[in-house]
Amino acid sequence: MKSKFSLRSLHLSLRFVLPLVIALGLLAYAIVPLVDHLTLKWAARDLDSRSHLLSSTLQDPLGELVMQKNRSKIISLLQKATQDERLMALGVCDSDNKLIYRTTPFPKQISCKPDESELIQKNQLIRLPQGPVHIVRDPLVFGNTPIGSLILVHDMSYVERRSADTKKYLIILFVVLGVVISLITVLVAHLSWRGWMEGARAIMRGEGIFRPFSQTAATELQPLVFEMRTMLRNLEAERRHADDMTMVWDPAALRGLLQKQLAGDEVLVVSNREPYIHEQGPQGIVVHRPASGLVTAVEPVMRACSGTWIAHGSGSADRETVDKNDRVGVPPQKPEYNLRRIWLTPEEEQGYYYGFANEGFWPLCHNAHVRPIFRSTDWDWYQKINKRFADAVVREARSDDPVVLVQDYHFALLPALIRQRLPKATIITFWHIPWPNPESFGICPWREELLQGMLGSTILGFHTPFHCKNFLETVDRYLETRIEHESSTIFHSGQLTMVEDYPISIQWPPEWQGLLPPADQTRNEILAELELPQTYLLGIGVDRMDYTKGILERFTAVERMFELHPELVGRFSFVQIAAPSRSALDEYQAFEQRVHALSNRINKRFARAIILKAAHHTSEQVTRYYRASNVCMVTSLHDGMNLVAKEYVAARDDEQGVLILSQFTGAANELHEALIVNPYHVEQTAEALYQGLTMPAYEQQERMRSMRALVQDFNVYRWAGRMLLDAARVRQREKLAARIGRPL
Ligand code: G6P
Repeated sequence: MKSKFSLRSLHLSLRFVLPLVIALGLLAYAIVPLVDHLTLKWAARDLDSRSHLLSSTLQDPLGELVMQKNRSKIISLLQKATQDERLMALGVCDSDNKLIYRTTPFPKQISCKPDESELIQKNQLIRLPQGPVHIVRDPLVFGNTPIGSLILVHDMSYVERRSADTKKYLIILFVVLGVVISLITVLVAHLSWRGWMEGARAIMRGEGIFRPFSQTAATELQPLVFEMRTMLRNLEAERRHADDMTMVWDPAALRGLLQKQLAGDEVLVVSNREPYIHEQGPQGIVVHRPASGLVTAVEPVMRACSGTWIAHGSGSADRETVDKNDRVGVPPQKPEYNLRRIWLTPEEEQGYYYGFANEGFWPLCHNAHVRPIFRSTDWDWYQKINKRFADAVVREARSDDPVVLVQDYHFALLPALIRQRLPKATIITFWHIPWPNPESFGICPWREELLQGMLGSTILGFHTPFHCKNFLETVDRYLETRIEHESSTIFHSGQLTMVEDYPISIQWPPEWQGLLPPADQTRNEILAELELPQTYLLGIGVDRMDYTKGILERFTAVERMFELHPELVGRFSFVQIAAPSRSALDEYQAFEQRVHALSNRINKRFARAIILKAAHHTSEQVTRYYRASNVCMVTSLHDGMNLVAKEYVAARDDEQGVLILSQFTGAANELHEALIVNPYHVEQTAEALYQGLTMPAYEQQERMRSMRALVQDFNVYRWAGRMLLDAARVRQREKLAARIGRPL
């Protein structure tokens, strides 16, 4: 790989060096004659002044001797003067232009003829057989009387020698210059190429997005890197947007995506709650579907993707239904994927699930004013069980780079544990509950460990941009990381995590679509089952028996509505389905008691105002209630998304019914046509309930139609598809980065 890069930088350098050599050659070609010309000019000027100086020195003695016609002295004077090595000859002309005295040698080609004097004056350089000479002819004056002229002939061959030397040095200088510049060019090109490659690799790894680039690329490349980064980000955003807008998401689209973008890669899901629970019943083993938003959303995705779902086997008959590898094919009637069960002792379940996850993490993440409890023993179990699930992931993975979907707050440590064992895995962690602000999260004694664990993820998903922002701020507050808020990415311990919002949803079309009787008929049947007159108005609430769901606030709003609108007394009942949940915990037991007590108290004032069904209901039973009800109330005090709101909308294919929705749910960001309320504001919620019960059919239809279109489009396949698409892009980027030279 290295030699390839050197070759490439050599190519690159040659492209600079060749033109450089040509340019230098041309320059030398133009400069050498110029230097010749200049040297000659300087030499001639020098000889001119020497000649005039000598001529004026000789004027007086020579003039006198010429007047005396003293030949021998004249010759001797002239001979002496020519002892200067450059002065070749001297000659004296009389006023008739006849050469009367001359030194030996005196070039015979030079005479005193006036036609030659012009030539001598203009072109002082004359090439004679013995070499180039410089000639000056000055008048000879005695007193003030001109008596002839003096010819001074200088040998100029030294100028030629000097010019030849200069040419030689110039050419050597150009060659040396060429070599030095070429070497510098090759070196700079090589370093720049390396800088480029490093930079490109860093960008591929995503590090370049927020790493101060001086660490990876030459400073002069920084503007370019910034441009590249922006371009890549825009392209990715555009592609995501285009996918979001143009793709129709259904099971087939999701399968296609897995085959095309994540070719051959397997999907592993890890959650605490299993999608199918086998229970021992009086008539043998029965299968239950748990009341869990997580299961509601992930199960259809898993059916579309196949793969393996790893979860706690919590049912009393779970062990009896698995094979020797603790696996069972589900759904039981028509298996489409594997459920791999993990066994926990009561002590382990107590510490990890009830203790740390549900007495610590759950209230920590929900603003429901229940104090989190953190025990060191629970924390120990939480760590141990996260390790056990990591072992299971490694055992179940058929390749070294599986796609692992980690679900929820039970497994904050799992991403980093998997990353240690399967560094090439693509780990998508989805946080199904809200993420609190840094101050709230900061009370957790193991906050750093939890955040570090989560940052083992390739992608970390929350329901809303607000939860993402809270998470980024929390990491910023408690860990040493590099965070790029613009692209929502965190670089920590050599690992890049993309934090993105993926609003969860439900399957569309719903499972029972077209199989149920018309809504009106269901309504009549339900009213009959409840022994209520057919004219009665119905409200519905469906939740786990959990203090975050705002069940008490909801009941109080029903009571207040009767107070404010007594005309509805005896004409409306509110059905609350509350699946038992985490009832081993004191807080939940106390809450359940409060719910029963409040409904009893209200029912004493307004008979059958609240019909509390504190029991598990199948999804079909719940759907019947949805279809029968005029109003559905979702009044969570704090909720990641809340899928009941979307299930209600999906159930109303008659486009009737009104949704009352807490502003503290993730769903309120999407279902704008619901009547949005603050559940802490009793009067406001009561009025919304009244408005819902009295809303004209056409308005119900308008609102419901719009919400149905949204849920249809933003269904759970889109939720999973967007995450998997992002994961596929990250994988492609990592593969590309590895190809261009850096193993990841
Ligand atoms: C919430 C959590 C899920 C959990 C569900 C039911 O929706 O986000 O992870 O499965 O509650 O709670 P449970 O404790 O019964 O699994």
